[in-house]
Amino acid sequence: AGPCDIYASGGTPCVAAHSTTRALYSAFSGALYQVKRASDGATTNISPLAAGGVANAGAQDTFCAGTTCLITTLYDQSGRGNHLTQAPPGGFKGPEANGYDNLASAIGAPVTLNGQKAYGVFVSPGTGYRNNNAKGIAVGDAAEGMYAVLDGTHYNDGCCFDYGNAEVSGRDTGNGHMETIYFGDNTVWGSGAGSGPWIMADLENGLFSGANVKNNNGDPTVTHRFLTAVVKGGPNKWAIRGANAASGGLSTYYNGARPNAAGYNPMSKEGAIVLGIGGDNSVGAQGTFYEGVMTTGYPSDATENAVQADIVAAKYAITSLTSGPALSVGSSVSLRATTSGYTTRYLAHTGATVNTQVVTPSSATALKQQSSWTVRTGLATGSGGQCFSFESRDTAGSYLRHYDFTLTVAKNDGSKQFREDSTFCTEAGLTGSGTVSVRAWGYPTRYFRHYNNGGYVASNGGVHTFDAAGSFNDDVSWAVATGFA
Ligand code: AHR
Ligand code: AHR
Ligand code: AHR
Repeated sequence: AGPCDIYASGGTPCVAAHSTTRALYSAFSGALYQVKRASDGATTNISPLAAGGVANAGAQDTFCAGTTCLITTLYDQSGRGNHLTQAPPGGFKGPEANGYDNLASAIGAPVTLNGQKAYGVFVSPGTGYRNNNAKGIAVGDAAEGMYAVLDGTHYNDGCCFDYGNAEVSGRDTGNGHMETIYFGDNTVWGSGAGSGPWIMADLENGLFSGANVKNNNGDPTVTHRFLTAVVKGGPNKWAIRGANAASGGLSTYYNGARPNAAGYNPMSKEGAIVLGIGGDNSVGAQGTFYEGVMTTGYPSDATENAVQADIVAAKYAITSLTSGPALSVGSSVSLRATTSGYTTRYLAHTGATVNTQVVTPSSATALKQQSSWTVRTGLATGSGGQCFSFESRDTAGSYLRHYDFTLTVAKNDGSKQFREDSTFCTEAGLTGSGTVSVRAWGYPTRYFRHYNNGGYVASNGGVHTFDAAGSFNDDVSWAVATGFA
């Protein structure tokens, strides 16, 4: 039985079931998600390898070969048509055209389930999915449950990495108009024990860890690489539960009365669904989603415990975030442009500014150093010791990072933001031919690109000038060689 079979047996059936990694009903063999590729704008649906099974990631890899793909739709497996698509503007606008949110890269969150490769949904700040016309989701004070499997090492303090019940208008319509799982270390509203991240509930105008609106020490900091997060709510009661999604059982972090503040009892749920954003389309948060459901009715702890056992049995495990030409940590490398007309230019820096410059074996030592990079292990904790950071050869302690999606060279200030902005994952170049493409760990839709001989992390056809689709593949495909210095 899958999670939704278990919820149905418990009398609290799924009314929405989303996953890019696997079927959540043992009989489900339909489409799990849709991807769109940049090369020709075509879409394809990815289904399980077998009924009840793991997603056919190989079909995605084939479809997306030599280009970039975005996840356009997470299909609802419950049969209610509660699919999640690119979130429209709400109280806040997203960064994409017409105020829409970004879509997630199709390859940002590779994992294995029982040894079979699958991809999660890597939500960078700006990314969001929504359904403002969902059917059968709890409204008013009606009871519901939900769980999600997340990456407990990928989070931030932005608002708000949510999955669950939100406003149909995309606007903040008041306290109690949302009920979602939240994951991250935002402390603007509530918090739990330690320094976070925490599983909390976003009930609108507040992230709650218990009845006390500011803090509940029973809600622990949780950083399991695979994290099961549970929130459920009904009249005058709600609960937060959590577990390591790869082993063991659920613990209850809160179980009791609604928060001590006006507007949360009774609730005024509206029944839209969000993923990766706040109720008003706040888009500052990041996180990774693998699977999740919403139920009708208040699931029993026993039902949720059985769901957790099913999640553990799915055997989520990490897999490599890099592919293509190998880089060896500690070595010095150069990255040469391969776009016709620019092939004598190398990724380099002039002070803080990153650019491409013509370099030859007879160039001055200073220029050779400016166009060579020491490969380091990725500084972002969330990359799990995978991926790479590129330290300047002439300025030890300074690294390539992106800021406003422009590459710069800056001193490592030790902050989480710096470490994440300076971590990049390599893959076979989009043009092939032995080249490498280098994507930003925290923004996997974005790759090292030269544009007008400047350095950026660019997405394929995004809103910035440097995101231009023309010559994208060439501009993001680099010939890697031993550094000049
Ligand atoms: O409740 C926290 C956030 O506050 C909600 O997600 C958002 O709608 C509002 O900004
Ligand atoms: O480069 C994109 C973002 O811009 C970085 O993540 C952040 O540090 C800056 O605001
Ligand atoms: O960086 C040089 C060129 O500038 C790129 O190939 C092109 O995309 C842009 O016009």
